[in-house]
Amino acid sequence: MSARPRQVVTRNSMGWASEALNVIGERFVHFSAGCGEAPVLDIGAAYGVASLAALRAGARVIASDIDPEHLRILESRAEPEDRQRLRLKAGRFPRDLAFDPESLGAVLASNVLHFLTGKQLETGLRLIAGWLGPGGKLFVHASTPYQAPFAAFVPEYERRLASGLRWPGWIEKTGAWSRHRKLSVMPASIHLLDDMVLRRAVQSVGLEVEESFLYRRADLGHGLAMDGRESVGLVARKLTA
Ligand SMILES: C[S@@+](CC[C@H](N)C(=O)[O-])C[C@H]1O[C@@H](n2cnc3c(N)ncnc32)[C@H](O)[C@@H]1O
Repeated sequence: MSARPRQVVTRNSMGWASEALNVIGERFVHFSAGCGEAPVLDIGAAYGVASLAALRAGARVIASDIDPEHLRILESRAEPEDRQRLRLKAGRFPRDLAFDPESLGAVLASNVLHFLTGKQLETGLRLIAGWLGPGGKLFVHASTPYQAPFAAFVPEYERRLASGLRWPGWIEKTGAWSRHRKLSVMPASIHLLDDMVLRRAVQSVGLEVEESFLYRRADLGHGLAMDGRESVGLVARKLTA
């Protein structure tokens, strides 16, 4: 029997939702358990791998996704005793989300930021920094260019990095750089990030980066492995005044 945790393709062909927490999801859940009355937000929650675990840990969770059907499935998977601490928010981040200033204990964006342009990412990070209460934390997990399907893009990425481009990982047409056999489940445009680019973007909205690292997630999809730098994880904190 394979030990590889399952990944489920999203209803809207927006990649695969993991059924196992990645290391950033684990940190989010652990931190969320201590957030008390302050809700925590899961952006691009899909079927709820992180939201459901945070609920089970006792957190108040706002699960958000562009696809309302994902959220309906997520809700149906929640334990009855956890449902009163679950809020669903359908909509596209950052455009459709609004929360009171300093009202959230934590925010998770796992495998969702690659759908955003640099400008949307900047807007979104600025909003998150405003929504987090003092001491609240942002948790990010994202894809890097260092994946087998994007091997042909890596030299171009490094050239862009060296030239100082702000968003070197933005690929307007995914198909122009990748011939992955599951290209149809990948976004038409994709934003690949790394630890330094993400760190700079998060610092620029005033959050303190606690850690930012490249690694290979345990449930990396079949055929994606390259050199151990396939994913990026980041944890950042809102400073107390
Ligand atoms: C690849 S899945 C990731 C699911 C889960 N967070 C994980 O780490 O496995 C991406 C999810 O983000 C949602 N999504 C894509 N773009 C979004 C956006 N701009 N705002 C909110 N949700 C979005 C998709 O519907 C999908 O459910």
